[in-house]
Amino acid sequence: RVLAGRPRDLAGRHVVVSAGGTREAIDPVRFIGNRSSGLQGYALARTAAARGAEVTLVAANVALPDPAGAKVVRVESALELREAVLAAAETADAVVMAAAVADFRPAARSQTKIKKSSAEPDPIHLVKNPDILAELGERKRAALAAAVSSARPHGSRRPPVIVGFAAETDDVLANGRAKLARKGCDLLVVNQVGDGLAFGTPDNAAVVLSAEGGSVEIPRGPKDDVADAVWNLVTPLLS
Ligand code: CTP
Ligand code: CA
Repeated sequence: RVLAGRPRDLAGRHVVVSAGGTREAIDPVRFIGNRSSGLQGYALARTAAARGAEVTLVAANVALPDPAGAKVVRVESALELREAVLAAAETADAVVMAAAVADFRPAARSQTKIKKSSAEPDPIHLVKNPDILAELGERKRAALAAAVSSARPHGSRRPPVIVGFAAETDDVLANGRAKLARKGCDLLVVNQVGDGLAFGTPDNAAVVLSAEGGSVEIPRGPKDDVADAVWNLVTPLLS
């Protein structure tokens, strides 16, 4: 599908989008993963490129063709995704974390394939992954504080607009509001799970919460339309 007729309102901007779902290795052939298809993240990358942005798409285990005009960085695990996102964020005007990042990973990765024996298997010990979105929010807070205390009055670039995603099943708005505050992001796109809107479906619907306290409903529609609606909310926040 050719994306025509869009404003070029992201021209001269660098946007970073993460998409897909991370895989956390158990051994050389097995992993802990999730059902994210990457469709919404790819739609965000595709529409941003169509609106003139330079796009870095950090893709975790996505089986989709590269979107036209995006630089694609492929990663597997949460730790790899963190490295790629934080590096690209250095020069970004906006970072959108659409990827489903595993909250936990196996504490150790077996170098050899785990074999079954007559005994019951050992439990898999999990440790927490870093929260990349919270880290981006923390970095932004620190950069803004440094600018205010005029440690670097001029010169250093403005920190990026930070956008998180969340899928909630109950108390959607209350949970979303708490998550936005906890992560220190500027916008949180809260997906309504259910109503046939699930992983891998072509449609999406969301409520976007802003750090200023506002909320905007994005009606059910194709993921490209939802992506455009998200960029419509991001552009006014760009310096
Ligand atoms: N996220 C992240 N790093 C993680 C986990 C999540 O950057 N280790 C990002 C996701 O990309 C998403 C947002 O945080 O943009 C919200 O993810 P979600 O799983 O809803 O939030 P969690 O804080 O992990 O809370 P929950 O207990 O509900 O899973
Ligand atoms: Ca999570």
